[in-house]
Amino acid sequence: MVSLRLMKYLFPESFLWGAATSAYQIEGSPLADGATPSTWHEFTHRRGKVQDGTTGDVACDHYRRFDEDIRHMRDLGLKAYRFSTGWTRIFPEPGSVNQRGLDFYDRLVDSLMGAGITPLLTIFHLEEPVWLARGGGFTQRTSVDHLLELGKALMRRLGDRVRTWCTINEPSLYAFQGYATAEYPPAHRFDLRGMFHCAHHLLLAHARLVEACSALVRDGQIGLAHYYVDVAPANPARDRDVEAASFMDTMANGVALSPLFSGAYPEGVLRRMGRFFPAGFDRDLPSLRNLGTYLGINYYRRNRYRHSLFTPFLHAAEYVEASAPHTAMGDEIYPAGLFKALMRLKNELGNPPCIITENGPPIPDVEGRDPLDDDGRVAYMADHIAQLGRALLEGSDCRGYFLWSLLDNFEWSKGLSMRCGMIHTDFATQKREWKKSAFWYRDLISRGWLEHAALP
Ligand code: BGC
Repeated sequence: MVSLRLMKYLFPESFLWGAATSAYQIEGSPLADGATPSTWHEFTHRRGKVQDGTTGDVACDHYRRFDEDIRHMRDLGLKAYRFSTGWTRIFPEPGSVNQRGLDFYDRLVDSLMGAGITPLLTIFHLEEPVWLARGGGFTQRTSVDHLLELGKALMRRLGDRVRTWCTINEPSLYAFQGYATAEYPPAHRFDLRGMFHCAHHLLLAHARLVEACSALVRDGQIGLAHYYVDVAPANPARDRDVEAASFMDTMANGVALSPLFSGAYPEGVLRRMGRFFPAGFDRDLPSLRNLGTYLGINYYRRNRYRHSLFTPFLHAAEYVEASAPHTAMGDEIYPAGLFKALMRLKNELGNPPCIITENGPPIPDVEGRDPLDDDGRVAYMADHIAQLGRALLEGSDCRGYFLWSLLDNFEWSKGLSMRCGMIHTDFATQKREWKKSAFWYRDLISRGWLEHAALP
């Protein structure tokens, strides 16, 4: 007989319980009040780019309904809310600030503060202006100055109220999906030069934004949100799989994290692919060693790899273990990976303050299931949050958890049908309704502890 020992995982009073969104995914009205198109606006209007053919033209209409959404946040008891700003609302073209765009975020921040919710603002979350992309986007070094200008404009206007900043959402994934898999604009395939140039310039922009924050924001907290992947060998008993996995870990995690923590790119990556980095990149390395004040972790998946001679440069092929649980987007669900990530930060990287800036599953609607019955999300959250509680007991300095996402929204190349929210959005009527997970999360936040089967 299996005996189930329950454990109470306690969270400190100051723990930042929150939810995350991003501008293009929820706002709608992408060209309102003087904004110009972003690459995502263009991309979604090209046939075949989004799986279900939808766009972010309306999304959750949050641009016009943000007050209602903030009421939901307040009723949920959220301590914090992570959102991003639409770059082209603020800089419709290079060099000129559009006050009407800034006004929107000013009102949003005031409403959040009025509801007692701490804003966490992401400066760049996947939405690149078309005007920047036309000149080569982040493959060009001038992009760093443009992003810095955006950050400074936001800090000057909002820095008296917004104290917690995220410079960039997922630099490594942005570079990978934009230049290697073609899933994001500019949709290049196997363009390794583009990928490493883009990643390097994003990290450089991060470092500059951290400096700007210490000059412009009093008591500012700032970090980036890293897309952390738990990487494992397909067969742990096979040395070549273990080697392949360790190399893929440096690609997924090392390329973004090593410069921040040690001012260097992983040697193995440079040996195999150094020729794709921008000329003179090593001169930037000392300034890249600048984490900021915390590390954001977006955690969604485990990837397994086996050795393969047929994959140029990487010599690793992804292996999908069919018997493992996966989300509707194909992410292997592996809650223990969150604990491992936090222990790695603690034991190998000096235990910096960190925040889980995203975590949560998509649960698309299916015939015969009430869309508000999202037991799968409740189980996913409980399993991950318990691992977080376990990490706190082991001394991790994790200070917050942000569910992805507050409400069903536009899930990039998958469109509107993925449904990642704890609040259901009826995209025809814009009616919001709480799913089971929203009630569950509200109760967890107000209690401050989670009862869960004890973890090893
Ligand atoms: C991104 C979000 C996205 C989420 C769920 C993250 O990689 O930051 O914008 O919606 O994953 O797929």
